[in-house]
Amino acid sequence: MDLGLENKKILIVGASKGIGRGIAVGFASEHCRIVALARTAELLAEVKQEALQKGAVSFDYEVRDIMDCDTKALARELMEKYGEFDVVVHNVGGSLVSRNHLGGAEEWNHALKFNATAAIDMNSVLIPPMVNRGYGKVIHISSISAVMLRGNPLYASAKAFLNAYVTTVGRQLAPTGVTLCSVMPGAVAFEGSYWDKFIKEGHPRVEDFLRHHQAINRFGTPEEVADMVLFLASEKATFMPGTNIPVDGANM
Ligand SMILES: NC(=O)c1ccc[n+]([C@@H]2O[C@H](COP(=O)([O-])OP(=O)(O)OC[C@H]3O[C@@H](n4cnc5c(N)ncnc54)[C@H](OP(=O)(O)O)[C@@H]3O)[C@@H](O)[C@H]2O)c1
Repeated sequence: MDLGLENKKILIVGASKGIGRGIAVGFASEHCRIVALARTAELLAEVKQEALQKGAVSFDYEVRDIMDCDTKALARELMEKYGEFDVVVHNVGGSLVSRNHLGGAEEWNHALKFNATAAIDMNSVLIPPMVNRGYGKVIHISSISAVMLRGNPLYASAKAFLNAYVTTVGRQLAPTGVTLCSVMPGAVAFEGSYWDKFIKEGHPRVEDFLRHHQAINRFGTPEEVADMVLFLASEKATFMPGTNIPVDGANM
């Protein structure tokens, strides 16, 4: 299938490892121009090497912490340096297992910022030029926790908020030619992931989790999530604005 992504300019926020790295390598294989952002320069340099080998037309990276900067200013700076983006993927987020759901607004604001509002703040700068051009794809990485509402309450709630943002704002944007959507992974494992340690230890939690919560009876891979992101970014997904798409191994 020709995805029509060749030469597209892609911004991936959170691209140094895990699902974000899989997404970067996926766009590289489609011969895209990639700008990758994360906090760890060494990891980004590794992704760059792999992406160029896989066929990226160009690969630039920015070492930034989106929890510790003015995200609107960051988005403006990225557009000044690289021009307008065709596709933006917001991948930063996480399960917040160390956070206290009985904490106050600072805990909840952290969860919302990490999983949704830092990206939304960037969108306030990145999306208007897309609307003016009548073209753009903005894809958030949500989680199936957003609909199952299991796991850490801060995480599930923040992702549910993100899904509501995607649905409601996605509908507003639909007539403009800009697609705003999300992918909701189930549990994904990779070197260094939350589940990786338990898998390597042969921990009984793994079998228990898979049997009760992931009908496919295995973890997903970053590539399986990336494939859906690529499809949503492509010219084949022209009738899907405002959607939150599960890629979850039949999570239950
Ligand atoms: N893994 C799963 O099972 C799973 C399931 C459902 C949904 N998801 C969602 O998928 C997304 C990726 O998950 P993952 O497991 O691949 O996460 P991960 O391994 O923690 O990777 C997150 C990426 O974001 C970057 N990042 C983290 N904090 C950042 C910050 N403050 N500023 C800039 N970059 C930052 C990380 O790089 P640096 O550390 O170098 O900054 C990394 O590239 C998240 O939104 C997560 O909620 C994951």
